[in-house]
Amino acid sequence: MQRVKLFEAAHKGLRNALSQFSFLLGKCDFNNSVDIAKLHSLGKDVFMMLSTHANDENSVILTALEEKIPGSSKQDMEDHERLEQEQDAIEKLLDDIKELNAKGAEASGSGAELYIKFSKFHGDYLLHTVEEETETQRLLWENFTDQELHAMRGKIIGRFTPEAFEKWQSYIMPAITQSDLLMMLGGMKANAPEQFTKLVVMAEKFLPAEEFTAIKEKLK
Ligand SMILES: [Fe+2]
Repeated sequence: MQRVKLFEAAHKGLRNALSQFSFLLGKCDFNNSVDIAKLHSLGKDVFMMLSTHANDENSVILTALEEKIPGSSKQDMEDHERLEQEQDAIEKLLDDIKELNAKGAEASGSGAELYIKFSKFHGDYLLHTVEEETETQRLLWENFTDQELHAMRGKIIGRFTPEAFEKWQSYIMPAITQSDLLMMLGGMKANAPEQFTKLVVMAEKFLPAEEFTAIKEKLK
């Protein structure tokens, strides 16, 4: 039987946001205020998600793992610290670019630096998520039941503000398989009808029209 994959949906959402940022960054004209505003706004989503995600993993998943097997979370925790430093530098550079542009100053040098720094970070981050989805996930399966893994997921989701939850869904919903989306919505329909109604509204907003119609049909 398929075990609970604790990282998969969140990581798919993050990969979606990171890829969109990479794409927009590559085509950004750093003398164009509209391009910069779009990139900056997407960057704020990406960095908010990355920060809350690392915090959720550290305080819920890795803390629980560390209690079972001392030392087992060391690698992931250290990765989070290293990635956070890279992320801070990128976020600052992005803010500086916005400021330079607002003052009418030249920002293409900083833009080129941002492109290289982010590309390295993107690569580093993807490798980190693969490590979590293989090695860390294996340790979680060996040491926790699916019920316990579900409880960890519930604890993380329960801490989201409604705004942050919707922001995450805007990147997760279009990035997961239709069957996973149906499983999530179907579970909500049975156990939390109020949440289900809210999620259907989000699905309509974030999914292509034909995909939403197909899902709605299957949920009847
Ligand atoms: Fe992580």
